[in-house]
Amino acid sequence: MTRARLLPWLLGRSDLGERLLEIGAGAGAATAELRKRVPRVTSLEYDHALIERLAQSNGAGAGVVRGDAAALPFADRTFSSAIAVLVLHHLRSSELQDRTFAEVHRVLQPGGRLFAFEISDGWFNRFVHTKSTFVPVQPDALPARLTVAGFARVRLDPRPGGFRFTASRNA
Ligand SMILES: C[S@@+](CC[C@H](N)C(=O)[O-])C[C@H]1O[C@@H](n2cnc3c(N)ncnc32)[C@H](O)[C@@H]1O
Repeated sequence: MTRARLLPWLLGRSDLGERLLEIGAGAGAATAELRKRVPRVTSLEYDHALIERLAQSNGAGAGVVRGDAAALPFADRTFSSAIAVLVLHHLRSSELQDRTFAEVHRVLQPGGRLFAFEISDGWFNRFVHTKSTFVPVQPDALPARLTVAGFARVRLDPRPGGFRFTASRNA
């Protein structure tokens, strides 16, 4: 689903540049496909067990980093693009989401873009997440939140059940 449907819709033919940051890579549903599209992919994940799985499936040291999206362990202007698929609602508060936006902006190179996909708020998604974190991102508020983080050219695009958005760091 992620590889065949979601990533083509989210990324289209966008130029991701030379170095992509994958935030909240999970078990790697998108990772192999991203590695086909970009010369260097760094997959960030918070969970220890998932980090081990990712390292095994991608080869030791192959750009798998344990860390927190809200405190990125990378230097300013490291990445040409960043992607976050189904990650933001797992952050424990909207403040942590805002900190993540600011951190992603910091580590992007001028002109770099963030691509993200999120699920909508609603009873079904609240039910599915009763035993995990669900802090839904309200699409209407996103342009202002991303602008405060420093981003420009925010584009939002809904589809049933969720929405994609992109935002750019000014050149
Ligand atoms: C629903 S999974 C999505 C995984 C993957 N992006 C995909 O589409 O299959 C959300 C992932 O975000 C990770 N995550 C949650 N909070 C995080 C944080 N603060 N920093 C980095 N990763 C985080 C979780 O451990 C989980 O693997």
